[in-house]
Amino acid sequence: MTRRFLITGALPYSNGRLHVGHIAGAYLPADIYVRYLRSRGDDVLFVCGSDDNGVAITLSAQKEGLTPPEIVAKYNASQQRAFEGLGIDFDVFGGTHTPDYVERHTELSQEFFKSIYDKGYFTKRTTSQLYDVQADRFLPDRYVTGTCYLCGAEGAYGDQCEACGHSMDPLKLKDPKSVFSGTTPEVRETTHWYLRLDEFQEPLAQWLEEREGWRPTVLNFAKGQIKLGLPERAMTRDLDWGIPVPLDDPDAAGKVLYVWFDAPIGYVSFSSTLLERQGGSPSDYEEWWKSPDCKIVHFIGEDNIVFHAIIWPAMLMAEGTYQLPHQVVANSFLNIKFPGKDEEKISKSRGTAVWIEDYLTEFDPDPLRYYLTAIAPENARTAYDPDEFLVRNDSELLATLGNFVNRNITFAHKYFDGKVPEVGARSEVDEKLLRLCGEQAEKVAEQLEGFHFKAGLTEVMALARAGNLYLDEKKPWSQRKEDLAACGTTINVCLQVVRALMVLMQPFLPFSARKCLEMLQLDESALQWDQATTELPAGTALADPTMLFKKLQEQEKK
Ligand code: MF3
Ligand code: ZN
Repeated sequence: MTRRFLITGALPYSNGRLHVGHIAGAYLPADIYVRYLRSRGDDVLFVCGSDDNGVAITLSAQKEGLTPPEIVAKYNASQQRAFEGLGIDFDVFGGTHTPDYVERHTELSQEFFKSIYDKGYFTKRTTSQLYDVQADRFLPDRYVTGTCYLCGAEGAYGDQCEACGHSMDPLKLKDPKSVFSGTTPEVRETTHWYLRLDEFQEPLAQWLEEREGWRPTVLNFAKGQIKLGLPERAMTRDLDWGIPVPLDDPDAAGKVLYVWFDAPIGYVSFSSTLLERQGGSPSDYEEWWKSPDCKIVHFIGEDNIVFHAIIWPAMLMAEGTYQLPHQVVANSFLNIKFPGKDEEKISKSRGTAVWIEDYLTEFDPDPLRYYLTAIAPENARTAYDPDEFLVRNDSELLATLGNFVNRNITFAHKYFDGKVPEVGARSEVDEKLLRLCGEQAEKVAEQLEGFHFKAGLTEVMALARAGNLYLDEKKPWSQRKEDLAACGTTINVCLQVVRALMVLMQPFLPFSARKCLEMLQLDESALQWDQATTELPAGTALADPTMLFKKLQEQEKK
């Protein structure tokens, strides 16, 4: 039976470009997973788009001298270029306030809100909030900083303390300051709608208890939050940019939905827009979002865990007609390690980011895909080291994988007329390597099914390494002079390994897999997972070899 998956990548805010940390955190593992599933013949919808609402967008717009729609258009386009350049291939890249998507997004977000409202899960509450008198505005939680009342760290934000990871009540912050003006805010009254998360404390706890195969980092964090208790959370804001609060209530006038309320609904509204564009009906998204035979998997960075493992599931429970996510896969952040400097956080303002669009002007996408997977921050932070990137490209990707493929194709061209040589008589050593192709295909699959991308890549490289060892042992360059048939067997076996490597590398290194496909002159269907061990018949003509990877470190000067 065909499995069905709906895969999402966290919606990037459309107020900035993408850097290596974003890619390593959520989008690359998501793309690898999607490519793997597709090669298994599973039915997949891969959804992403920009997160366009919220106060952060309005402030960035102001800083850049743009209107919110202008800044959204600018960065939505920049992000799409980055994703495309890296081969991160969404079925749809929408935007929560982007022209072709905003209408459906508004409609679905408002419906979602109203349905929760009708079920009585919102409390309308007039509360005291921090107000910046100088800037003449209520302070969004993110725009108050102070000292964390849980861990004592300074610089905690009104919504979250980054030191201890806990969500914050801005009014409880010690020594609060407005980010806008630096002044001490005063307390004023405003009315908002609060989601009664306490109603879902029990069901969420039980649901999390039943999750299998989730990363401990995600589960422990989510369970920890629940133990602390889930306070009500305002799902509306005083802001003039966003999705209007859909209530016939004078208190709702001029207010918008909280960006974290509408953003995850973007996953749904973009799905709906896509399916309709493909000729379906606007409600076709329900077959993915409401049908339990489809598995929903969210790929996110560590700072999004509370939203995807607690608040979004609570919203879904409250709404009541959607299914809950099957998996929430979160990576830790990626640090950066520049030569001669200590490992540090990636920071736009301190200029320590490696931007994808810059990277792509200089390098091919696959080496970055390789390196970011090899150092994937799956369980803890890891660091991007630009020198190590070059070294690992040369010593692993090129020396182990690329050379194996190229040596064999080149050999077949030189001595076997550009064709796959006859099988001849295979020895146990030959059979063993051929069996390894199937074994590695299974191991890679097992790792990817379990969301262990780094380990999956290691198993691919293990096959390339075994191929190289086999070559070194067989020495076809000597065999050729003594026993051409035996040499033919060696190259035949190696080309079978090339074929398997092509299939196994495809999720990780799609551009290089395609080059292999061209060299082997096979069609698209040869990239299917079950084709990894399908034998290339002797006599198959090969195209001229093209290098899969380039050497990136400078040649040592003599
Ligand atoms: N824009 C958020 C971030 O970059 C992620 C939003 S994910 C969604 O942290 F679920 F809300 F869409
Ligand atoms: Zn704290």
